[in-house]
Amino acid sequence: MIGTIYSYMTKKGKKMLLLSIITFTFKALLGAGMMLVILNIINKIVNGQTDGFLRYWLILFGIVILKGVSNNTADIAKHFSGFEVVKKLRDEVTLRLKKFSLGFYTNERLGEISTIVHKDVDNIERIAAHVWARMFSDFLIALIIGGCLFAINWKLGLAMISFLPIGLLILILGIKSNGQLEKRSSDDLADMVSLFVEYAKGIPLLKAFNESPTFKEKMDRSIISFADSSKKVSKSIANYLGRYFFFLEICFAVLVTYGAIMVFNNEISISNFLLFIIFSKEFYKPFSNLEKNWTDYIVLKDSYKRIMTVLEAPIIESVDKPLAVTQFDIVFENVGFNYQQGEFELKNVNLKIDQGSMVALVGPSGSGKTTITNLILRFWDPQKGHIKIGGIDTREINYDDLLSHISIVMQNVILFSGTIYENIKLGNKNATNQEVMEAAKKAMIHDFIMSLPEGYDTLLGENGVGLSGGQKQRLSIARAFLKDAPIVILDEMTSNVDPINERKIQKAISNLAKSRTVVVIAHHLKTIRSADQIVVFDKGQIVEAGKHDKLLENGHLYKELWNAQKKAEKWNLCTN
Ligand SMILES: Nc1ncnc2c1ncn2[C@@H]1O[C@H](COP(=O)(O)OP(=O)(O)OP(=O)(O)O)[C@@H](O)[C@H]1O
Ligand SMILES: [Mg+2]
Repeated sequence: MIGTIYSYMTKKGKKMLLLSIITFTFKALLGAGMMLVILNIINKIVNGQTDGFLRYWLILFGIVILKGVSNNTADIAKHFSGFEVVKKLRDEVTLRLKKFSLGFYTNERLGEISTIVHKDVDNIERIAAHVWARMFSDFLIALIIGGCLFAINWKLGLAMISFLPIGLLILILGIKSNGQLEKRSSDDLADMVSLFVEYAKGIPLLKAFNESPTFKEKMDRSIISFADSSKKVSKSIANYLGRYFFFLEICFAVLVTYGAIMVFNNEISISNFLLFIIFSKEFYKPFSNLEKNWTDYIVLKDSYKRIMTVLEAPIIESVDKPLAVTQFDIVFENVGFNYQQGEFELKNVNLKIDQGSMVALVGPSGSGKTTITNLILRFWDPQKGHIKIGGIDTREINYDDLLSHISIVMQNVILFSGTIYENIKLGNKNATNQEVMEAAKKAMIHDFIMSLPEGYDTLLGENGVGLSGGQKQRLSIARAFLKDAPIVILDEMTSNVDPINERKIQKAISNLAKSRTVVVIAHHLKTIRSADQIVVFDKGQIVEAGKHDKLLENGHLYKELWNAQKKAEKWNLCTN
């Protein structure tokens, strides 16, 4: 893990980290030097000597300046190497996110990805670049000072570390046993948070249907259980830390007592004894911070594990020798597919969509229509058979190329914060103003945009105006016009829109369909009556295919769906 983290630093970054460790150590040694000078001054005063003070003050002044400079250098150096790690990690995560299949996003919660990008990457920076640089220099100083003190008097040196091994043993055992308690507590926390999220999401529903007592009981139980387990964790930490620090203090007490006896027996001078008293604090410092540094290490390990779930998750591999697509017919050959979870299975799908034609996918909810379009887009790959575009298996086409040939108009159109103009331009970032407007006209949304006070400069998204479902879909069609891809995948809106909006959407779609291969997931059968081919799905299988009239004649599932929709429309007319 540590090797991987440091491999994210360039040579310069590593040099800067080393520089920060050296300057931190230098700064601490200067601090020790300062204490020595002060000790000498006190010695002189005690012995009634009055000469040479100016020299000491000058040395002190020099030390203060040098300390300031090395502190600054250390800070700048550690930030440089830290930022380098953060930037490289964020770049890698973002790059990787683009290469995942859709399956990744359903397995890994999007919230988790945002935690990774924000918190975990920052943790790595804070701990690997800042905390460790300081810890390393603290231990270096302890080693230097400890060495010097042992050289002055090894017996008093031994007294200084007398109970340290016992303390360390207690700390190690305590951390080990606490690990299990912490695991339980973090599991309890995760349970509680997910219940809270569920609760927050369901608030409108809960308001409408009186709060469910079982849900409340479940929440109460999970809150109590988290409180219990975190109390246990705090108790165990307080327990072993208390004992550890007790033994550290005992070390110091032994040092003072034994030192005083040695002074009394003239085995050591008072000034050397004072040296021990003052500098043993610097020696103990890294040991006092050991537990905090260990906790940081655990945090780092967790963050690293989460980052690795992204960096090591399987991606859509780039193709060694990608083939260029020049024709845009789509063929499904004996395609079999199932999601990792759930019962649903797409069975032996054979389908041919001619270039420039319009095919409509229809069928009951859950029959597999969206799955078919997800497979064309390689959001998932089939386990059996082949999907070919222009005769080439989609897995042999460079993924970016494949996506560049397809425009998608989804039901839930995503609008980004920005102007209408920028939102349409997403379809083609090199488009001119004129082209954006042309696309909007063909998508039947231009007049609406012009009716807004700020026209194309109207802000959308969180801080901007909201659009109706039909307007959003037309805006998304404008994006598709601008992208001008030869294949269009269109998920028709399920909700009913007003007749004027519906007519406009219809017109926009038929404009888009001209000379393009269009796959439309149809929810309103009357809108796809003129499709070149209607493919009817049921439970993951194609049960019939053909033109509207022929399918009605057949009198199977399509006719059933058609009649059901007619009935529903009549019912709506009667009730409205
Ligand atoms: N990511 C997934 N993991 C597991 N099962 C899934 C996943 N996505 C869809 N399914 C299941 O696959 C089946 C087909 O789903 P699909 O979205 O293709 O249906 P659909 O015909 O588009 O339905 P609708 O008309 O309601 O949009 C459903 O039973 C669904 O629950
Ligand atoms: Mg669907």
